[in-house]
Amino acid sequence: MTAADHRSGSSSGIRTFEPARLHFGGDYNPEHWPEEVWAEDIRLMKEAGVTMVTAGIFSWGLVEPRPGSYDFGWFDRVMGHLGDAGIQVCLATMTASPPPWLSRQHPEILPETADGVRKWPGSRQHYCPSSPVYRTRAVRLVEQLATRYAEHPALALWHIGNEYGCSNPVCYCEVSAADFRRWLRERYGTVEALNAAWSTTFWSQRYGDFEEVLPPRTAPTHANPTQQLDYARFSDDALLQCYLAEREVLRRITPDVPVTTNHMPHHKPVDPFRWAAYEDVTALDYYQEPYDSETHIDAAAAFDVTRCAGGGRPWLLMEQAPGAVNWRARNSPKPPGAMRLWSWQAVAQGADAVLYFQWRQSQGGAEKFHSAMVPHAGTDTRIFREVSALGQELATVPQLAGTRCSSEVALLADWNSWWALEQGSHPSSALSHRETLLRHYRPFFDAGVPCDIVPPDRALSGYRLVVVPNLYLMSEETAERLTAYVRDGGHLFVSYFTGIADECDRVHLGGYPAPLREVLGLRVEEFWPLDEGARVLLRGELSGQADLWSEAIDLEGARAVATFGDGELTGRPALTRHAFGDGMAWYAGTRPEPGVMRTLMDRVREEACAAPLLADLPPGVQATAREGGDGRYLFLLNHGETAATVTLPHLARNLLDPGAEPAAAVTLPGRGVAVLSAP
Ligand code: GAL
Repeated sequence: MTAADHRSGSSSGIRTFEPARLHFGGDYNPEHWPEEVWAEDIRLMKEAGVTMVTAGIFSWGLVEPRPGSYDFGWFDRVMGHLGDAGIQVCLATMTASPPPWLSRQHPEILPETADGVRKWPGSRQHYCPSSPVYRTRAVRLVEQLATRYAEHPALALWHIGNEYGCSNPVCYCEVSAADFRRWLRERYGTVEALNAAWSTTFWSQRYGDFEEVLPPRTAPTHANPTQQLDYARFSDDALLQCYLAEREVLRRITPDVPVTTNHMPHHKPVDPFRWAAYEDVTALDYYQEPYDSETHIDAAAAFDVTRCAGGGRPWLLMEQAPGAVNWRARNSPKPPGAMRLWSWQAVAQGADAVLYFQWRQSQGGAEKFHSAMVPHAGTDTRIFREVSALGQELATVPQLAGTRCSSEVALLADWNSWWALEQGSHPSSALSHRETLLRHYRPFFDAGVPCDIVPPDRALSGYRLVVVPNLYLMSEETAERLTAYVRDGGHLFVSYFTGIADECDRVHLGGYPAPLREVLGLRVEEFWPLDEGARVLLRGELSGQADLWSEAIDLEGARAVATFGDGELTGRPALTRHAFGDGMAWYAGTRPEPGVMRTLMDRVREEACAAPLLADLPPGVQATAREGGDGRYLFLLNHGETAATVTLPHLARNLLDPGAEPAAAVTLPGRGVAVLSAP
């Protein structure tokens, strides 16, 4: 079967990537090695169970050694070997690292910092995302590539760029400044509209002409908040335009080949929800931190974002490390079993591919100490054995491909709000989008309740519970949708400092959070952020401690579930509950400590009838389900280091242990995994 057989048609106008089995493989950089090594690569890939490689990511300089002069001969041979071996290629567009001749010819493509410092070539991604020169040259290369490999039997998927915005998320050069002004003209039409949106009467910032507007370069003190917010939007868009310029070529020349790009997890500069509209399958790179005992929870949230960005369709784990990375201060290998466990975690949360960076460990260059599927020491190594075992194992469960996860709980996340939230000049600089999201995600993860993480414009009616961790920026329209959701019977949980400002970062007037006051049944009169390390007591139906934030709440129909037990706000509401329409709206005016948060969230979701997948899940065990093709599969992942026994509601067979009889309980060793076929 060729790669083309796995592509679905485009007659519906939608290209999907629907592999017949879970893919396994990684970044393949054969150009690092003499050609004699390539035959061995292919042999070992087959041995390891590799079905797909991502090739050519950093090959621009080799395929176009001089401007306009292309040398694809060596790459033809790579594609040929892979195709002959039945290994599919996720073909990179090769544009992530411009060759030295380009920045020599056109130094204006180099990005600049907010202080006007130029970033020089010598690493990678040294281009200004707005640079027309970069985009033109990139597109020219993609035309060559697409034309050359359009009919190649190994071509399964296009991999555009690489980790957009990893090293060049934002540029402040003159080219960017001009592009920003163009972007603002399109957004606002007139300079008066821009002035109104940016509140420029403040500090005498009123513009007479778009030409006066600059990027928010280093200034004496706080730059205009809306200018900063718009610059984040613009910078995300500039990167997206690079992606779209390449995608347009691919659509034209290879209309049936799906396209994707690999995102970074919790990556503030790039809004994965927005980009997903232009991706046929979503893809994520995730590098667990073995020294962090909660790395799998951070990963879980990132996996959910990636799946939900793609509307719930299966996604690709495009990169992970087989062992250690090289870019943290201290780089731990993955202990035995961890790589398998974390790979299965991606599948458990909806991935249809487990890929790595990279196939063969580099001998030189900046990533020579980054692990690879074939380590420096060769194949007689723990890493190669673990990699190969996983490759074989994934091959045994083709029925999992294409199945989907479903959730009754949604957490809202919004990159626009993130960009606005973490600016200076706010009541507290300690609010972190990522941390707050994880604090709200964790109680569901621990309870074994699957969650979706979705942007605020998603349809909410299918969810029993919607959690809004800290959406500082919220449009009237989103607030109205949340209000209607509760009125129609939904359960909503909202935390502090949500619904404060509109899309232009102007405060919604009339008592915070003005557009949510009706549904929450309260008014916040004053914010009272807590000092670093300070704690406040909670008393009432829930008791314990909270930190970070407090606020003066007046009830307007809501009931206090807990009040502040000490401090300036003693006796005032801290946690509230409001029966509204046919639904329920909860509010937290502070950050409860994790134990209290778990109790609170358990109660909120029990009232919403959002049940865990399994009752009495042992601590440290993650449970998820995937369904489809007449099958339902329950995944159990023991993130702990000691054995855990999970009781099942029915007899089930562990697909990863084919010899075992169906049983009503599974004992997972430390870091153990089971995939149960549920009736
Ligand atoms: C990713 C990148 C890869 C490789 C990897 C190392 O950010 O896409 O090319 O550098 O990190 O962990």
